[in-house]
Amino acid sequence: MGLLLRQHAEQQFEEELYELKKNETNKVPENWQLSPQSVVTYLMGGKLANGFEVTPKYIGHRRLIEIAVATLVTDRALLLYGLPGTAKSWVSEHLAAAISGDSTLIVQGTAGTGEEAIRYGWNYAKLLAEGPSEGALVQTPVMRAMKDGKLARIEELTRVGSDVQDTLITILSEKTLPIPELDREIQAIRGFNVIATANNRDKGVNDLSSALKRRFNTVILPLPDTIDEEIDIVRRRVESFEAVMDLPAEKPALEEIRRVVTIFRELRQGATEDGKTKLKTPSGTLSTAEAISVVNNGLAMSGYFGDGRLNATDLVSGIIGAVVKDPVQDQVIWQEYLETVVKGRDGWKDIYRASREML
Ligand SMILES: Nc1ncnc2c1ncn2[C@@H]1O[C@H](COP(=O)(O)OP(=O)(O)OP(=O)(O)O)[C@@H](O)[C@H]1O
Ligand SMILES: [Mg+2]
Repeated sequence: MGLLLRQHAEQQFEEELYELKKNETNKVPENWQLSPQSVVTYLMGGKLANGFEVTPKYIGHRRLIEIAVATLVTDRALLLYGLPGTAKSWVSEHLAAAISGDSTLIVQGTAGTGEEAIRYGWNYAKLLAEGPSEGALVQTPVMRAMKDGKLARIEELTRVGSDVQDTLITILSEKTLPIPELDREIQAIRGFNVIATANNRDKGVNDLSSALKRRFNTVILPLPDTIDEEIDIVRRRVESFEAVMDLPAEKPALEEIRRVVTIFRELRQGATEDGKTKLKTPSGTLSTAEAISVVNNGLAMSGYFGDGRLNATDLVSGIIGAVVKDPVQDQVIWQEYLETVVKGRDGWKDIYRASREML
């Protein structure tokens, strides 16, 4: 079998989850793999009693993760809400891995998501041959989560049409899924709950109905507070990408990551870090997730087509790609930024030159 391109969190962090379980001293809720306290340690990182180091997965406020975990113990579902690239899907995956030992019970919400993707569907060949029967039923991840007492993940809930969203109401309030065709129901067992994610930037979103909103506790994941926090996030993700991709490039100098993050933050906030120069904001989101891709891309460029050391030339095409989403307006904004900020900044001449060559 070939190596997996991407492992699920519970596979990649199997050892950490095993050690957390071994060192468990707190009460573990029914059908959970770990106690709420250990789940938070898994997400935020920490040292266990036996000296084992758990790596941080989420960089940010511990309180947010505590609220998220506490919500999942109750009978309210969890909605992770925020701008694109603020680790909503990432946190959802790790919560499911730590709590249920399984992050794969997932429904990807789109405008085309129908009821049958959330409740159940039918295998039509069997349905025609046998009529409605247990065997003709196609289970959804939500149904399996209910049966097994696990967490179901619903990604991008607000892209799903409102009528389909509302099929969750019975599931969340009554903890049951009626199957009228078979004259029976699936009753959720303990440990079942739902984590949904939604972002507040994408177009074409359907607001949650107030009936559904009341069944969710919303936790808003913010952009990283400080530049150092954001650099730390990018560095950690880039290092794990390098390990997986086995690139012929050196570890990026922290300085290069700092420059990419600085550019993203300045354009995002519409002012230089020192607050002295006002800037126009481009149309793209310039999220932390995009900063991670820019550095990863630069590493691939430097490894295969450069000298193996990440430099401005390797990074600039990615930076421009992230900044210039609208070919006219954003192009002007980038040019202005180059002339007013990059050109005069100490040690940034190489970015200025590389960018001028590209445009
Ligand atoms: N605070 C953070 N701590 C750790 N990793 C982070 C943080 N913010 C962003 N990331 C990283 O950014 C990447 C993208 O995150 P993710 O895909 O979860 O974003 P999202 O909020 O679901 O975005 P979208 O709304 O576009 O779906 C992940 O690899 C994650 O590691
Ligand atoms: Mg996401």
